Amino acid sequence: MSEFFNALSDDHIAFIHAQPMFFTATACAEGRINLSPKGGDGLHRVINHNLFCYLDLTGSGNETSAHLTHDGRITVMFNSFTRNAMIMRLYGHGRTATSGSPEFEKYISLFPDNVGTRQLMLVDIDQMQTSCGYAVPHMEISSHRDALDRWAESKGREGVLDYQQEINLISIDGLEIGLAKQTP
Ligand SMILES: Cc1cc2nc3c(=O)[nH]c(=O)nc-3n(C[C@H](O)[C@H](O)[C@H](O)COP(=O)(O)O)c2cc1C
Repeated sequence: MSEFFNALSDDHIAFIHAQPMFFTATACAEGRINLSPKGGDGLHRVINHNLFCYLDLTGSGNETSAHLTHDGRITVMFNSFTRNAMIMRLYGHGRTATSGSPEFEKYISLFPDNVGTRQLMLVDIDQMQTSCGYAVPHMEISSHRDALDRWAESKGREGVLDYQQEINLISIDGLEIGLAKQTP
């Protein structure tokens, strides 16, 4: 059974905040579709009934940002691995916010400090769908991984920002990603 909603209810928001991980899917008209798993403790927040936000950490690729810059569509998926099965998909349009921008300054305090911070991803939710999720296995989280945090801490903030300017400005399909050098 599947249902569509034009806005998140408080129960939907509680479900989203209870999930230890989620998935993002983005694409442009041409090129490869990106699908990314996103974990990390406290790195995603619902801002209001039609606005979702996550703290994006520096990694080897920066595909979601490229697709949001050149296309804007995004689907965010949560699925319960516990007894109460459910899949939730947020269909919407997203944008990035980097340090110094009004939205970054407005929302960054909702997230834990992280040396590897790259940008905030903001998703205007056009529609949300829930479905039964009966094909998703039962799984229990044992812990969040800290490898990426340890990598960022070993580099230091300046090192992370230099890495972004070296590695995160072009997508795997050659799309330019306007990630300006941020202040530490
Ligand atoms: C050259 C290259 C190397 C990558 N190496 C890793 C890796 O070692 N570990 C990892 O989790 N992801 C790796 N990724 C995935 C990216 O960090 C990133 O998740 C992916 O490009 C999607 O972008 P997004 O994080 O903006 O959604 C790599 C991506 C690229 C292009």
